[in-house]
Amino acid sequence: MLSLLAIGLLGHAILMTSASGTCERMMDSADSRIPQGMPMADFDFWVVNRTFGELYYAMSIPPLYIPDINYLQIIKRVNESYYEEVAIGETPSSPKQCNSYVFPWLRASSTRASFHRNGKPDNIFVVFSSCPKKYIWVYRCTQCTGSSRCSLSHTFLGLFIYEGTSDFGSPSYLDDLPLQDMLMDLCPTRVKFGVEEFKWFYSYGKNSEYTHLSLTIYIMGMDGFVVALRV
Ligand SMILES: *[C@@H]1O[C@H](CO)[C@@H](O)[C@H](O)[C@H]1NC(C)=O
Ligand SMILES: *[C@@H]1O[C@H](CO)[C@@H](O)[C@H](O)[C@H]1NC(C)=O
Repeated sequence: MLSLLAIGLLGHAILMTSASGTCERMMDSADSRIPQGMPMADFDFWVVNRTFGELYYAMSIPPLYIPDINYLQIIKRVNESYYEEVAIGETPSSPKQCNSYVFPWLRASSTRASFHRNGKPDNIFVVFSSCPKKYIWVYRCTQCTGSSRCSLSHTFLGLFIYEGTSDFGSPSYLDDLPLQDMLMDLCPTRVKFGVEEFKWFYSYGKNSEYTHLSLTIYIMGMDGFVVALRV
């Protein structure tokens, strides 16, 4: 009984240490590390069918392109091996141009949330979070060599927050985020949040054409799956 309690306490202590510690491994100048995805069951439960708004999108400098702002996505599960990202975003130029997307995500692992977007084997997407109820990180390597490393110039990171069921892009969703966990979750990639080797695009907010685009996506989604975007 006592030893069980001791193990319980020890387990708790270890958990506390890892959640409040600092990244000990140094970032190296050439590569990031491909992280482990969250368990697939957690992904199906916490991520699939829920609207996530992108908060930051990062890539090495000089940036290859300017990403969309006001980017909202839902990942649908078509079958065991095939998922689909349905998203809307806006080009940050004036006047804003609205974009809508459907990207296939093919599973790359039998147990973890790791995918090939657009079915390209060297293009890997990994979703991870220690609190998927509130946020997810999406790590992308566009030139996987089969090793656990990815060159910084091919590494892209997206931080998404859960958007609830209405009022997508509202600043209230930024309240009370578990910021420490969001920072610490990046440790396995060896990219530190905010490092100056990357450009950190702030991309959060309401999509001005949301009503119109959700209708577009709904129509696109009629073929085979139901899209959960609401207006
Ligand atoms: C899953 O769905 C995709 C797209 O509709 C299809 O190409 C694939 O054959 C399906 N796989 C299984 C195992 O049903
Ligand atoms: C996602 O939503 C669709 C349509 O509402 C539903 O059929 C499906 O079971 C949901 N999938 C998951 C994994 O919750």
